[in-house]
Order: sequence, then structure tokens, then C-alpha cells
Amino acid sequence: MNVLGIETSCDETGVALYSTERGLLGQALHSQIAMHERYGGVVPELASRDHVRRVLPLARQALEQAGLSLADLDAIAYTEGPGLAGALLVGAGIGASLAFALGVPAIGIHHLEGHLLSPLLSKDPPEFPFVALLVSGGHTQLMDVTGVGRYAFLGDTLDDAAGEAFDKSAKLLGLGYPGGPAIAALAAGGRPGRYALPRPMLHSGDLDFSFSGLKTAVLTAVKRGLPDDQARADLAAEVEAAIVDVLVAKALRALEQTGHRRLVVAGGVSANRRLREKLAQATERNGLRVHFPELHLCADNGAMIAFAGAQRLQAATGSGPTAASTSAALPADGGAGSAAIDGFMVRPRWPLDSLPAL
Ligand code: KG4
Ligand code: ZN
Repeated sequence: MNVLGIETSCDETGVALYSTERGLLGQALHSQIAMHERYGGVVPELASRDHVRRVLPLARQALEQAGLSLADLDAIAYTEGPGLAGALLVGAGIGASLAFALGVPAIGIHHLEGHLLSPLLSKDPPEFPFVALLVSGGHTQLMDVTGVGRYAFLGDTLDDAAGEAFDKSAKLLGLGYPGGPAIAALAAGGRPGRYALPRPMLHSGDLDFSFSGLKTAVLTAVKRGLPDDQARADLAAEVEAAIVDVLVAKALRALEQTGHRRLVVAGGVSANRRLREKLAQATERNGLRVHFPELHLCADNGAMIAFAGAQRLQAATGSGPTAASTSAALPADGGAGSAAIDGFMVRPRWPLDSLPAL
């Protein structure tokens, strides 16, 4: 089965072709970072308009790379939510229309399920069950994962997400957007410890996060004055260390609490090198394993959407008893495909633990 995946939830247009027999065959991506940079963050209306311009040329590119044509597609998967409503509507509208025109099923995918399953696309994929640490620009969540669609919340952020903490701290340091890679680059020339930033909720005893206090502490340090470039680098290193310390401690606690032996980390922040190193060390020390997506699949992309779509469609068309669609609004008996015929919808807010299991 060949599934075309379309991702347009935020500031990346991603289209990819995943084959259940042959794996990832084609991938095309356009980042809007340069367009949003001058505004210091994503401008939703500009994002939507740019997705409109990009989706079809990128789809053509992904198909060409795969050596396939539209007639070879067996299904279209698109991001249904969560994300920016207008941006989501572009991918959903094009995905559903394309599916309708081709007479193939369309399926709406939960963006975070895409991230969460993306490490399964790597050469050494994790087996279920595992603890998932989802760290993106808008989410910081720990989930107990026992199968596709079987996601139970263990912890969540009470305010800012980890990615947001990187982005906001970067802004305070006068760095560009997105802040994560900018902080990481500056931190490479600095050392943590010179500035003492808080590790929010490190000892809260639960699995929740809070990063808004960190931003306030960074603001205080910046206001006091950073004498030179080394001071800026040291502060960036401390920001990165503070966020990573909290993520590592809570992820380990989640593993302890669930008794699972595997940790899966996904979302944009999973590209962070310090986070990868510290989690690898900590899990190894405890005889546990950690899995990351391949670096090119950490940020938003079409491949994770195509892959999640393929998992759900396969379950629906194969021997699995459940409907493929992640969307509760689509009739279970209609399953995949009804989206193309009956219209489509998006879910800007959509809790991950409300998805049907396979
Ligand atoms: O998953 P993602 O690409 O988009 C969302 O779904 O939100 O995550 C974007 C977030 C941004 O906050 C960005 O600053 C952060 O991921 N990020 C990083 C790194 N690369 C991206 N944070 C820390 N270190 C990185 N290397
Ligand atoms: Zn994302």
C-alpha cells in the first residue's frame, strides 16, 4: 500500500510517500522559518497561504523521488490536528480532495501520534510497550504507550512547553526563531553552572512540567546584564542544561513508575544533542533503552503522517477489527474514505489520549 502523507499543522509543509512494503520512498519538505523569522514567530495567516502554494509542488517532488504517479496511490493521510486551524485546513482540504478525485481513502492523523510513531521508521525500531516523551514547540508530555492508539497520559506541562522555553529564552537572548537550535548552537561555546537557573518541578514528585519560571529567571539574568559573548554562551548553556535536566529526570521517573524498559523521545526538541546524550547515558546506567527518530524526522514532516496513516489503514483493511480513522466524527462503518466523500474537518485542539486504539 502506498500512502501519501501531508503535514501542514504549523510552519513546515511536508509531503512524503510511504510504502507498507518498501518503506519511505519519497520525501519533500519546505520550511517557512525564513518567512516568519522577521516576526519572531509564526504568523498563522502567512503560514496558511504559504502551505497553499507548497503542497502540490512538494507532492509532485515526493512522487517523482519515489518513481510513482498519482495513480499508484492507495490512500492519502493528512494532519487533522492539533495545530493552526487555517494551516490544517490547507492540508486537509487538498488531501481530502485528492483522495476523492483518485477514489482512494483519506485519513486524518493526529500530529503528535505522527511524532510519537516516527521512531518506528528507524532501522532499530522500539517494541511496545514504551514510555513516550513528546517534546515539541507546543507540547511536553509523557505517555504510557502500549500500542498504536493506546496512549495514556502520565504527565503534561502546566504552562510553557520545552520547545517554547527554548524559543522564549532565545528571544530574551536576542537570538532568532526557532530558538531551540539557536540556543543549542550558542550553548556549544558555553558552560552550564555560571548562571544558576531553576529546574522547575524537578522534585514535585509527579510527572508534570512547568517551564514558565525558567523564562522569568532568564529575563532577570539578561536584565542584570551579560558582560560579553562568553556570558551569553554560558547563559544559553545553562538554559539548555536546565531544560534537559528536568526532561531526563521526569522521563526516568516515568520509566520507573510504569516498569517499562524503553523510552521513545519525539518532537522537534528530540533533535537536541545534549538531550540525546544525557538520556542515552541515564538509560544505559539503568539498563534501559532510549529511541529517537532519525534526525531528519525530528521536526515536522510528511513521512510521520504517511507512516501513521499506513498503520491505521492497514489495521482497517487487514484483519484488525477497528475502523482506520482517528477521527471520532467519521462513522466507524464508513471508516477511511468517508472523509473524502462527506467533506473533511480539522481539530486545532485534540487530546492525544482520545484516539481509538488499533
Ligand atoms: O515538533 P516541532 O518541529 O513542531 C511542533 O509540532 O511544535 O517542534 C518545534 C520546536 C521548537 O520549539 C524548536 O525550538 C524546537 O522544537 N527545537 C529544538 C531543537 N530543534 C528544534 N529545541 C532544542 N534543540 C534543538 N536542536
Ligand atoms: Zn510537531
